[in-house]
Amino acid sequence: MANRLEGKVAIVTGGGSGIGEAICKKFASEGAKVVVAGLPEDPVEEVASEIQQKGGAAVAFKGDLSLWAQAQQCVQRAVQEYGKLDILINNAGVFVETNYLTDFTEESFDYMIRNNVKTTFMMSKAALPELQKNKGNIVTAGSEAGVLGIPQNTPYGGTKAFNIAFSKGLAAEQAAFGVRCNVVGPGPIDTAWTHKETGPMDKEMEKTNNQANLLGRRGTPEEVANVYLFLASDEASYVTGAVYMVDGGITIGKGPIGEKADEALSQQPKGELDLEHAMDGHTSIRR
Ligand SMILES: NC(=O)c1ccc[n+]([C@@H]2O[C@H](COP(=O)([O-])OP(=O)(O)OC[C@H]3O[C@@H](n4cnc5c(N)ncnc54)[C@H](O)[C@@H]3O)[C@@H](O)[C@H]2O)c1
Repeated sequence: MANRLEGKVAIVTGGGSGIGEAICKKFASEGAKVVVAGLPEDPVEEVASEIQQKGGAAVAFKGDLSLWAQAQQCVQRAVQEYGKLDILINNAGVFVETNYLTDFTEESFDYMIRNNVKTTFMMSKAALPELQKNKGNIVTAGSEAGVLGIPQNTPYGGTKAFNIAFSKGLAAEQAAFGVRCNVVGPGPIDTAWTHKETGPMDKEMEKTNNQANLLGRRGTPEEVANVYLFLASDEASYVTGAVYMVDGGITIGKGPIGEKADEALSQQPKGELDLEHAMDGHTSIRR
């Protein structure tokens, strides 16, 4: 155990699985007292008790954090249990359907708005009065999809773009109260979502995801948690309004997506201009 979060109290939403579990365990191993928050069916109690078994401090909170009353109860739980709140990690989120927009269901769209967008809004709103008391901070889950968009789940990218713009605005607004706000933007991470067996991606999407980043593999939940740790700690005292990508370079190397383009789009148009000097070796580079 190290002590980069010694004395801090943190809520981690979506803390029962995937990246959230890694954040909870990382934070606890660095001395934080953690509220592991998730939906009633999430294994939040298991994660809290696993932390306790290793000598860390954690309690579980079960509730739908897109609802104002339950978001408030979650913050109260932290204050009742540990006396204060220093850190809010808005990690909860869903990725339910992959489909072309023409077939994308309104139910999935509403579901993502509720769980990716409203959770961030409600939890930030509920936590801020406590965070302001302690000059705390918020770190929210973006995604490479929130920067670049993502085909066959276009609304998901939109919800993550919301989280990015929301956090930047909040950083500007809350600086006056001493509260920092940042975003972590994961690329394809090795959780249930990015496996065809356990998520909505088909075999081809799974393969493209792995090929589309510079490192040629999924990131691990722990590699993402490491960056949450830095941003939530006092070491990041001069970092606010930032988006830290943890994406294996996917935002600068989108990979072989062009191979899938429709033939009509992948043919160069002839054009009308008489261009003689584009491809004949004339260049200013080596003159
Ligand atoms: N896995 C990836 O490749 C990836 C990539 C980019 C961004 N992200 C982001 O990271 C975060 C975690 O993703 P993950 O892969 O670990 O997924 P996950 O499904 O393992 O974890 C998300 C958790 O959030 C919980 N949750 C959802 N809605 C909630 C609500 N209303 N109230 C309380 N809890 C709620 C879920 O039940 C789940 O336990 C998400 O915000 C996601 O958008 C993940």
